[in-house]
Amino acid sequence: MTDKSKDLLRRKLKQEIAVRKGVEKKLIKSGQHYNCLLEQSRNMQEHLRHLSRQIIQAQEEERKEISRELHDEIAQTLSGINAHLATLKVEAAVNTKGLKKKITRTQRLVEKSVNIVHRFARDLRPTLLDDLGLIPALHAYMKGFTKHTRIPIRFKVFSGVERLNNAKRTVLYRVAQAALTNVAQHAQASLVKVEIQKKHRSVYMAIQDNGKSFDVERVLYAKKNKRLGLLGMRERVEMVGGRFEVKSVKEIGTTIGAQIPFNGTQESF
Ligand SMILES: Nc1ncnc2c1ncn2[C@@H]1O[C@H](COP(=O)(O)OP(=O)(O)OP(=O)(O)O)[C@@H](O)[C@H]1O
Ligand SMILES: [Mg+2]
Repeated sequence: MTDKSKDLLRRKLKQEIAVRKGVEKKLIKSGQHYNCLLEQSRNMQEHLRHLSRQIIQAQEEERKEISRELHDEIAQTLSGINAHLATLKVEAAVNTKGLKKKITRTQRLVEKSVNIVHRFARDLRPTLLDDLGLIPALHAYMKGFTKHTRIPIRFKVFSGVERLNNAKRTVLYRVAQAALTNVAQHAQASLVKVEIQKKHRSVYMAIQDNGKSFDVERVLYAKKNKRLGLLGMRERVEMVGGRFEVKSVKEIGTTIGAQIPFNGTQESF
């Protein structure tokens, strides 16, 4: 072998080594990337498991609450009615004095239980939403909210929102319900604005209060977050392909935003 061909071979070998080293580096890099993805997927799985445990727990809590209210409120009122009727029966046979008053009192108790049953039904699944649509259902909910909390609501909506499919209308209703519940429980606000408008190829709903603010990052991304309100809203909105946002600013208040895809035409499912 001549010196020239030896030199050529050496150079080729050097080149080969350089190429292999490059490949090796890339392999290490892709291995690291793979590990990173694996770690992310494990975290996500853990997050999902945590979330589903919370959902089951929340469901149980809700059942407990319904059972307690059924027992304490309806059963007690019905027992009261029964007791009133028993005395009425006895008194009706002897004297009729005061009978009218007692009947009126009993009627009030019946009315009270009817109202409680209505409230239950409305909170569980508002029939208005299925029968008449989102706007009447929201109007009814807000009327009850203001009556109960004395916080007025300014509500603006475009009628085309009813063309959204059932799942999306339910999401908007539930988000409004949970956001307003938060206003009543935490905000100490004196006014709420609810606005539903058409924006490009989507529907945008904003619920804005003028109450005290809170640290959104801390609440939403806390590792051991036991609260389900905001998380549940986000899950619902993302489930229908939408985007959820929370803004809370000192001395201004909190705004909950839900953007849901909508092309403007009647959606069927
Ligand atoms: N509109 C608001 N104004 C002020 N603070 C708020 C508002 N909305 C939420 N927060 C704060 O964020 C926290 C989390 O709200 P979230 O709805 O997730 O849970 P929660 O209301 O405490 O419990 P739940 O699971 O019953 O909804 C609340 O505890 C409260 O401190
Ligand atoms: Mg809440």
